[in-house]
Amino acid sequence: MKINGIPYRTIWPAPAGQAVEIIDQTRLPHEFVTVRLETMEEAAHAIMEMLVRGAPLIGATAAYGVALAMNHNASDEGLENAYATLLETRPTAINLRWALDRMKKRLTPVHPGARPEAAWAEAAAIADEDVEINASIGRNGLALIQKAWEAKGKQGRVNILTHCNAGWLATVDWGTAIAPIYAAHDAGIPVHVWVDETRPRNQGASLTAWELKSHGVSHAVIVDNAGGHYMQHGLVDLCIVGTDRTTARGDVCNKIGTYLKALAAFDNKVPFYVALPSPTIDWTLEDGIKDIPIEERNGEEVSHLQGRTDDGRIMKVQVTPVGSPVANPAFDVTPARLVTALITEKGVCAASAEGLKSLFPNR
Ligand code: MRU
Repeated sequence: MKINGIPYRTIWPAPAGQAVEIIDQTRLPHEFVTVRLETMEEAAHAIMEMLVRGAPLIGATAAYGVALAMNHNASDEGLENAYATLLETRPTAINLRWALDRMKKRLTPVHPGARPEAAWAEAAAIADEDVEINASIGRNGLALIQKAWEAKGKQGRVNILTHCNAGWLATVDWGTAIAPIYAAHDAGIPVHVWVDETRPRNQGASLTAWELKSHGVSHAVIVDNAGGHYMQHGLVDLCIVGTDRTTARGDVCNKIGTYLKALAAFDNKVPFYVALPSPTIDWTLEDGIKDIPIEERNGEEVSHLQGRTDDGRIMKVQVTPVGSPVANPAFDVTPARLVTALITEKGVCAASAEGLKSLFPNR
């Protein structure tokens, strides 16, 4: 995507090699800052502290993290250490393990002397494939938005609700849930996006809104509790969200609060779509509620808010009483029965074992 006319991905190798660059997402929407990562430890820190975030981008960053590690120690021990360190960074997004497994499988049979070059090439392949996958998700999801537009007799606009940030910032480019929205906008369909602010970290208010504004897509940020009300009043035509891990039977784990939106959508007969690249499918799990590990993050994300003062300073303030305990589960699971369909790079399918197998017969 372009920022001030300049095309960017969310992660790219530094021109002189030996490092990768990222956009520091903790500084958005008020400051656009890029950061250079030179070691595997810096890549791990960037994932943990959410300078990069979103399941596909976490995977790509981990892959480049292994490449950075190979620059410094390409032995078997170095590879194992990189794998273990990066795997620990965040527990829920399965793309992390997927990318690390792929890097390990590619590098293990390679002589240590040749590993750095192979690692950089494989990480670049993972990043490039992510861009292709998301472009396909955009095309496949566009058909659903087109259908909604036709169902309205091409009158007014298509109102789409999304949660968290599943745009290009969450991936290497294009996004997952937002890719169909960009495709619809670019195809001339008048789309309007209700952007859930997505407490506690406000990925919707800070990141999705910033992306949509930059691309000129009509949108409004709403508090997390407003979506149900808008659905009751016919102001949401469809929901599209991303996912951090989807099980083999179609249960969807995504940012905390997604489940409540799916319930409201179900009650109001609003289609609830989940967009996902195939590396987000955990084929080893069935029951998402029972089996997916839910990250519990630092309580300060709940007790404090960061924002910009009117005179331009970035400040953090406390919104809870000093000493009040907080809890901070970062994700929840929406059971497959509440999901209208899954949008993948291979096409659109039912959120079920049969649906997923129809698109991925070899799994
Ligand atoms: O905690 P985050 O910001 O990494 O969580 C991101 C989300 O939940 C996204 O909606 C999800 O990764 C899907 S992104 C393509």
